[in-house]
Amino acid sequence: MRRYKLLLLVLTVISFTSLHAQDPVIEKKVNALLKQMTLEEKIGQLNQYTGRIFTGPQSTEKTNLQTEIKNGWVGSMLNVKGARSTREVQELAMQTRLKIPLLFGLDVIHGYETIFPIPLAEAASWDMDAIKRSAQVAAAEAAANGIHWTFAPMVDIARDPRWGRIMEGAGEDPYLGSLIAIARVKGFQGEHLGDTLSIMACAKHFAAYGAAIAGRDYNAVDMSDVELWQTYLPPFKAAADAGVGTFMNSFNTLNGIPATGNDYLQRTILKRKWNFKGFVVSDWNSVGEMLKWGYASDSADAAIKALTAGSDMDMEGRIYRRKLVQLVKEKKINIALVDDAVKRILYKKFELGLFDDPFRFSDEAREKTITSDPQHRQIARDVARKSIVLLKNNDQLLPLAPSDKTIAIIGPAAKAKRDMAGSWTVNTDSTTFISLYEGLASRMSSDKLLYAKGGTVQHSTGEEINEAVAVATKADVIILAVGETWDMSGESKSRADLRLPGDQEKLFTALQQTGKPIIVVIMAGRPLVFNNIADKAHAILYTWWLGSEAGNSICDVLFGNYNPSAKLPATFPRSVGQIPLYYNHTITGRPYNTQKSKQYLSVYIDEENTPRYAFGYGLSYTTFEYSDLKLSKTSITNNDSIIVTFKLSNTGIYTGEEVAQLYLRDEVASIVRPVKELKDFAKVQLVPGETKEIRFVIAKEKLSFYNKELQWVTEPGKFQLMIGTASDNIKLHSSFELVNGK
Ligand code: BGC
Repeated sequence: MRRYKLLLLVLTVISFTSLHAQDPVIEKKVNALLKQMTLEEKIGQLNQYTGRIFTGPQSTEKTNLQTEIKNGWVGSMLNVKGARSTREVQELAMQTRLKIPLLFGLDVIHGYETIFPIPLAEAASWDMDAIKRSAQVAAAEAAANGIHWTFAPMVDIARDPRWGRIMEGAGEDPYLGSLIAIARVKGFQGEHLGDTLSIMACAKHFAAYGAAIAGRDYNAVDMSDVELWQTYLPPFKAAADAGVGTFMNSFNTLNGIPATGNDYLQRTILKRKWNFKGFVVSDWNSVGEMLKWGYASDSADAAIKALTAGSDMDMEGRIYRRKLVQLVKEKKINIALVDDAVKRILYKKFELGLFDDPFRFSDEAREKTITSDPQHRQIARDVARKSIVLLKNNDQLLPLAPSDKTIAIIGPAAKAKRDMAGSWTVNTDSTTFISLYEGLASRMSSDKLLYAKGGTVQHSTGEEINEAVAVATKADVIILAVGETWDMSGESKSRADLRLPGDQEKLFTALQQTGKPIIVVIMAGRPLVFNNIADKAHAILYTWWLGSEAGNSICDVLFGNYNPSAKLPATFPRSVGQIPLYYNHTITGRPYNTQKSKQYLSVYIDEENTPRYAFGYGLSYTTFEYSDLKLSKTSITNNDSIIVTFKLSNTGIYTGEEVAQLYLRDEVASIVRPVKELKDFAKVQLVPGETKEIRFVIAKEKLSFYNKELQWVTEPGKFQLMIGTASDNIKLHSSFELVNGK
């Protein structure tokens, strides 16, 4: 029996290692190098300082970075960029005894020089190839600028638009989020690390950061294990399986334990269960912040707790640097833990080829040609137009025909450029961006294009509004561009009020008095609340922040050069009081449908239960019809699968793409299951009159869930199957049974 167990263990180890195979040649080199390293040199590898850009609170400690690097006290730098600067700093590392190269990390979140739509916008494309291409271009530009490593993708599920960082992720759904995590990791990392057109990725923030209580950034998180595993961990697991090189932990606590000091997350789940071989970097001083949380009594205690829990590298916290040598000497921390962390970091440096040539990413000639490659703008424009969601289009006002109509472009966002970059642009010159106004001006004769600003995002005076109305009166159609400024969504930009800021709604109401048709273009970093506009505008485009090619891509949609195909990756509430609001909720014992009386039902007495716009929603200029749903069988076992087919037809007059969505509901289970869950989708292009057969396969994996013992199981019973154009607009229904049977 013992022998059998041993064999099982060996087999498990072998199967794990083949999944995440480590290169024995590199391992040998890592071990040989480790043997030569002093304790101080080892601790140095675990230390990461920022350059002169601060993407977090500045440390009060005076540090001579040059001396620190030359003395081998630094393993990685963040926020140093450009071929020349990275070369200069790397040269300092080459003066150390063992010449271990530095790793240069940067937040390349949605582009480097060419800025792509914010990640939430790209998620709206539901187009994995486009998302991957965007990451590839960002990686190529960053890699040519000396960067080895991006702190992306952020794969945090977010169900709360008050949280400003919802803009950095893929929205609320674990299935869509997992596919996007894979696309981004593969896009950034390419075929293999070390290719100078790619950079190492980092899945962040591990874990559950998006569930900060009340949507306030850096706040505590409290959730059940089932919720953690079912909703928040899947995109991280997907990133790990896709071979992501690193993970970053997070600022929040999870059920009382800071993520940085969280052994369950980093050791039990990530490094043991998932067999993750890369390294974990802390978030900006998150090791030090354990003191503020009241989880560590002093810096030494924080260092012990973080390293023991599996945080390998200390980002700008300086605590490992100050404390670990002494702690090892005093035997308060086991050297084996240090060695493991160092090995993980060195392995990545070898994989990136930095020991062969520490300057291989810092090549000024390559930097010039790659950064200014005009093709990148074309790719950005393509991804951007795929990210625009058409929320409303009364009487087919859009697309606008190129005609002799006069257009009034009004609003504080009309000429916005910097805002289009969002909050994560550590390297770009937004003066080269195309604003909506410029996009329009390049297509229209100047006497047909009228403009008024109508105020700022924060405030409009009566005069500004009057001027806007006067201008609008002379036009046939009004385009009103409103939204947020770049610093209203993003890190530490939580909002308690999600209405359009300032007087932008007032501006809309004033323009409405002209009686002209109004197309509202909303440029923002998160789902906003704009009920009046939603009710009264003739057409609405939700464009998020689209990056360098914002204006051109919006015009592509306005004039029908591109037929919108995006679908919301996050629910838009009617009011803040409904938050958190998400499509895959459970039903309650007193569900409300459309009953007359709301008494004793799960409702608000002053608000609807339904969202303003549901997850998966988005219109097209054409219309689609769903028909002929067929299931190959209506009863399956765990070893079986069902082939689902249906017909999708383009019944309108434009070529267009539809995202057909498959949802399942497990009717009865040992733990209450959501009313529906996205399990598959297909993005399909159809010309007018065309019909295609769409096919989905349903097998065990799509029917499984975490039970209360956290086992990934299926349970026999009935499942509802729903296929639709949005989570709240199901076109085809069926059901099937999962039965026991071998
Ligand atoms: C953010 C991270 C980011 C890091 C480095 C932190 O404040 O939470 O997402 O990667 O700064 O800039």
